[in-house]
Amino acid sequence: MFHLLHVLLVSYLVACNALDRHFLRPISDSDLHPADGVSCESWQFGVETNNVRDWKHVPNACEDYIGHYMLGGHYRSDSAVVVTEAIKFAEAFELVGDGKDVWIFDVDETTLSNLPYYAANGFGVEPYNSTAFNEWVNQSAAPALPESLKLYKKLLSLEIKVIFLTGRREPTREATSTNLQSAGFHTWEKLLLKGVDVKTNSLVFKSGERKKLVEQGYRIVGNTGDQWSDLLGSPEGNRTFKLPDPMYYVA
Ligand SMILES: *[C@@H]1O[C@H](CO)[C@@H](O)[C@H](O)[C@H]1NC(C)=O
Ligand SMILES: *[C@@H]1O[C@H](CO)[C@@H](O)[C@H](O)[C@H]1NC(C)=O
Ligand SMILES: *[C@@H]1O[C@H](CO)[C@@H](O)[C@H](O)[C@H]1NC(C)=O
Ligand SMILES: [Mg+2]
Repeated sequence: MFHLLHVLLVSYLVACNALDRHFLRPISDSDLHPADGVSCESWQFGVETNNVRDWKHVPNACEDYIGHYMLGGHYRSDSAVVVTEAIKFAEAFELVGDGKDVWIFDVDETTLSNLPYYAANGFGVEPYNSTAFNEWVNQSAAPALPESLKLYKKLLSLEIKVIFLTGRREPTREATSTNLQSAGFHTWEKLLLKGVDVKTNSLVFKSGERKKLVEQGYRIVGNTGDQWSDLLGSPEGNRTFKLPDPMYYVA
């Protein structure tokens, strides 16, 4: 099991030009297991449908399963379905065309992938170490999620402007901006980060920012995120698109 994961991980890291090789660290201190008779696929389905909420880490028994999902082709394939539908929707949408039609993207696990970080630190890592994560963010080394990059390019060609709305904090603005550009997201209307003093959760913060955008005259055509907290809350925009993320939960 470990060897197959290792092979997948190394080929993944080669594919995204990562310089370092990272290895999956088994998590042994977890007492979380799916209930008897419940498969990891069922747990994952519960997560993606927002039925399983407020989970702190991937159940220990599912770490290998989630590792394979992320590093093999399944994560990419699920993301491709989301993006295909988003492109169909965007192409058919009747835009006003005054430069105020916008599409919102979250950053982490939506446009940029932190898979090298999670692969190195374990898919079941807990507690979340914000210092370690921000060190990684400051490297500006996260690869693009290829399906989202495809959607991004399509939206620009349709003259829909892109707004990045992230729970990353203001001090990481430069690192995030550098990373987005080097990953291929060259231009945007706005890059909205969370201020250092903002205490509200992601759902409240992000819906509040969307409300401000609407008040500024923007029309939110679509919104893409890996967390339900990226998408829920008024105003939602004309459609939301949920990307897969079985690695962590953000309220
Ligand atoms: C969090 O990460 C930092 C930086 O890598 C490390 O120095 C620190 O020991 C970590 N904290 C915990 C609780 O693991
Ligand atoms: C990341 O960079 C920002 C901006 O330079 C800095 O304020 C912050 O302390 C850095 N974080 C870490 C964990 O290195
Ligand atoms: C898009 O959403 C706005 C705001 O809710 C609404 O007024 C408009 O009719 C919607 N457009 C379409 C085509 O559904
Ligand atoms: Mg995210």
